[in-house]
Amino acid sequence: MARRKKVYEGKAKILYEGPEPGTLVQYFKDDATAFNAQKKDIIDGKGVLNNRLSEFFMVGLGNIGVPTHFIKRLNMREQLIRACEIVPLEIIVRNVAAGTLSTRLGIEEGTPLPRPIIEFCYKDDKLGDPLVAEEHIIAFGWANQQDLDDIVALALRVNDFMSGCMMAVGIKLVDFKIEVGRIWDNDMHSLILADEISPDSCRLWDIETGKKLDKDVFRRDLGSLTDAYTEVARRLGVLPTNS
Ligand code: C5P
Repeated sequence: MARRKKVYEGKAKILYEGPEPGTLVQYFKDDATAFNAQKKDIIDGKGVLNNRLSEFFMVGLGNIGVPTHFIKRLNMREQLIRACEIVPLEIIVRNVAAGTLSTRLGIEEGTPLPRPIIEFCYKDDKLGDPLVAEEHIIAFGWANQQDLDDIVALALRVNDFMSGCMMAVGIKLVDFKIEVGRIWDNDMHSLILADEISPDSCRLWDIETGKKLDKDVFRRDLGSLTDAYTEVARRLGVLPTNS
């Protein structure tokens, strides 16, 4: 295979230059990290599952008119995506209290929230992606007010779609994280959903048993992460084949 130029390497993915200007190839690694990479492991097959699952969600979202960076899956571990300027925010949507919300506010894990709650974290590994307020985002120019309004609307649409997909297969969407990027057209820009949507970036609980089917299995040593992700893929009808 011809050598490709690596554009970026993150904890779970690598981006390479794409075949056309304005495109990138997103490669899904098997690396699992938690607690800002203080806990690390290689989980055989995780990248393959996340490539498929992210494709499934991005295509579904595209079909209901949510703009995404996904163009097409190339192979078991790679997808062709649109290049965009990533907004330096992690956008978290929560339906049920869990994780850092429970720790921070002392709300018991599993408590349903009165409505979906959106939080923003500033994307900076050195700082541990700190929670920030809209005031910080606007004041420091990470996004403008219009972007923020668009991000909230997009995040809620993703939540509705994902919650429905999951509910249909007996899984509760507790919370998830998304990232968005800007596509520029002269001096105008629009926002698209970027990065990935997979059990790495969601909390997914079996509705009947409460069993965790997401990265908390790794974070909290609850068993096989591959088994959990395979279960999600199986229920959604997204099991990897050899293509
Ligand atoms: O850890 P916390 O409770 O804030 O996470 C909320 C949601 O965002 C979880 O689904 C988690 O997997 C996701 N998340 C993520 N990447 C981060 C932080 C959180 O995917 N850096």
